[in-house]
Amino acid sequence: MPRLTLRDLPADRILVAPSILSADFAYLARDLQAMEAGGADVVHIDVMDGHFVPNLSMGPALVKCLRPLTDLPFDVHLMVSKPSAYIEPFREAGADHMTVHVEVDDDLPAVLRRIRELGCSAGLSVKPGTPATALDPYLDLLDLILVMTVEPGFSGQAFRRDVLPKMREIRDRADAADHPIHVEVDGGVAPDTVPDCVAQGCNLLAAASAVFKGGDVAGNIARLRAAAE
Ligand code: DX5
Ligand code: ZN
Repeated sequence: MPRLTLRDLPADRILVAPSILSADFAYLARDLQAMEAGGADVVHIDVMDGHFVPNLSMGPALVKCLRPLTDLPFDVHLMVSKPSAYIEPFREAGADHMTVHVEVDDDLPAVLRRIRELGCSAGLSVKPGTPATALDPYLDLLDLILVMTVEPGFSGQAFRRDVLPKMREIRDRADAADHPIHVEVDGGVAPDTVPDCVAQGCNLLAAASAVFKGGDVAGNIARLRAAAE
């Protein structure tokens, strides 16, 4: 069966996207399998270039090694200054979806179109301080909007409640589009913050620390889902 993109998944259902950023990198295969067995809908892969954000994480070679281990869609979050240089290598490595940041100095319409031409779904992310209006020129090109509720770069940061009103503004934009658009939240997503995110219209929950906390991946995913109900 061909793998799915996020365009193939319902944007009106709650989906859980564990981020492997908080997995044990020495046991990534084990942790990926625990995510799948625990009912994850997609795998969130945080890519950092040490320039757009002050941290380094993982590249296409790692994604390629993970690809044979699961059929879950790979949701690649590119926290990089020049996404145009990386979308093809990540597609070749097995990405099914790619999200880039609206704050970068790159040709965003071309990047988003190319992501779709390569057969992936395409997303655009906003940092906490970036207004929802920054997304307006690109809505036709988007399958997903990623709302950052921490400054990108590190897992384990505190959820920024001041971003909640912007989520609703973004959900309204997504609903006004003539095609489905997922609204993903990323940063400090945990059972105590999920109800507000869902109330503000988010349907895709990216979470690193809350999924791997205490090692009970299946139980943690179930707690995130229960909090969304
Ligand atoms: C942060 C990444 C997030 C991060 C979330 O820059 O984009 O996906 O892994 O980590 P938690 O869920 O621990 O806030
Ligand atoms: Zn992320």
